[in-house]
Amino acid sequence: MTRPSPDPSPTSRPAGGLTAAVPPPGCPAHEPGPGGVHRLYGPVASADPFGLYERLRAEHGPVAPVLLEGDVPAWLVLGYAEILEVTRNPRRFSRDGRNWGEYRAGRVGAASPIAPVLLWGPDCTHQDGEVHQRLRSALNQSLDRFDRRGLRRHVQRHAHQLIDRFAADGEAEILAQYAQQLPMLALTTVLGLPEEEGPRLVRASRQLLIGTEKAVSADRYIQRTLGELVTRKSTDPGHDLASWLLAHPADLSDEEVVHHLRLVMVAGNETTTNLIVNTLRVVLTHPRFRGSLHGGRMTLPAAVEQVLWDEPPISVCPGGFATQDVELGGQHIREGDVLLLGLAAANVDPAVRPAPGAPMHGNRSHLAFTSGPHECPGQDIGRAITGTAIEVLLTRLPDLRLTTEPDDLSWSSSTWSRHLDALPVAFSRREPRGPSGAGATAARAGATTSPPPEAAAASTVRRGVPPTGPTRTWRALRARLRQWGLHRHD
Ligand code: HEM
Repeated sequence: MTRPSPDPSPTSRPAGGLTAAVPPPGCPAHEPGPGGVHRLYGPVASADPFGLYERLRAEHGPVAPVLLEGDVPAWLVLGYAEILEVTRNPRRFSRDGRNWGEYRAGRVGAASPIAPVLLWGPDCTHQDGEVHQRLRSALNQSLDRFDRRGLRRHVQRHAHQLIDRFAADGEAEILAQYAQQLPMLALTTVLGLPEEEGPRLVRASRQLLIGTEKAVSADRYIQRTLGELVTRKSTDPGHDLASWLLAHPADLSDEEVVHHLRLVMVAGNETTTNLIVNTLRVVLTHPRFRGSLHGGRMTLPAAVEQVLWDEPPISVCPGGFATQDVELGGQHIREGDVLLLGLAAANVDPAVRPAPGAPMHGNRSHLAFTSGPHECPGQDIGRAITGTAIEVLLTRLPDLRLTTEPDDLSWSSSTWSRHLDALPVAFSRREPRGPSGAGATAARAGATTSPPPEAAAASTVRRGVPPTGPTRTWRALRARLRQWGLHRHD
């Protein structure tokens, strides 16, 4: 088993992670499932998923047998090199769920909670070769049409509106009131949906990703909403992903467009929420991490990369179905077997990390976005939303602090991801923006307000170009950014 680092980095996983104690022999809570195979779901796995990955690595090496919901057998790939071998060999590891032996044998069907993630669908995640390339090129080229600066300004506007709703309270629950709202508000604009759809879609995509019994009905709701959007955009196109996918020369059918919008929404929302809140957690709970930012030894983008190594928003993702018998990591994989990529485990593989939590200094070779032809196409958008969300929050509320002991923070886990349940904070009460307070009043009433002057300034700071003239607003902002180590050049 991997030894805990004697001086773990601030982003080392909290209690229940790699540093968790090895269970005593015979402890019933750690008993494996049928056939002595560990379940990747249920109370034992959710209580300590990272501890489970390390037990699996110790028992089986880089590839371990596991059980999914319904005790369906699967392989969990824990090794960094072995994940690269799977993702870079799409001919041997197909993404098409119709190649899954359990599906062909009728043991997994559409009603299974794992169906939305693993069974075949028309989006590019479930395709191989030329079909995948056609769909992926439409998606990549349409996502590339977004003006990144425009997207940042849009995120800043929503971030300020959300902060306005709680700034005068002096306290907030950052996960529910901020991190869970902002990515979907950004994504509704990316997709072409009205902003009011955001909160309902947040709930539905969370249920889908967590894989509860509500996953199937949540998926139906998302597809219906997106189907209506595609119908609207077919006759009234705009500057959004729905319209650009419909117009793309790859000639996607309406159904294909709906499934790709669903894919972007589900893949981009919860992941970005997790990244925002996980980064804020380490900034707020670890004085050494905060000190590194403050002292300019670490930039905010480097902090985000460190969190992507240590606490990737997706812990496990589908890796493919073996198209032939193959040896991998010392295991004999049979044709039709499903492989899952243990991204969180591979990021702490002793073969690539000197110790769990070791500082990575902005290195981007983690597997949080996987690799190969299916590597996440939205990673820069996710990074932009995350960086902007944290920057605006820390600029508006520079004395933000946790109101609970770090060890009292609780987590929930599914087969695929682990997330914080809440991040309660306090800060000095802030007057609403503007002399009359109209900004906050309007925001509380749910109205749309124009971005404050510091939003434009913060956008300029990220590009390292100060706005012309040392205005009062700019000087105040610069002082706050310095306090957080986010601004280092005059
Ligand atoms: C910042 C947090 C994010 C993380 C950690 C993340 C991670 C991932 C991972 C692990 C995959 C699976 C890749 C595979 O199957 O091998 C993926 C796929 C994908 N992601 Fe992201 N993602 C993030 C944000 C986003 C955003 C913001 C978007 C859209 C704007 C997005 C769009 C997609 C799409 C479309 C796929 C499917 C690609 C394919 O199968 O070809 N992601 N992402």
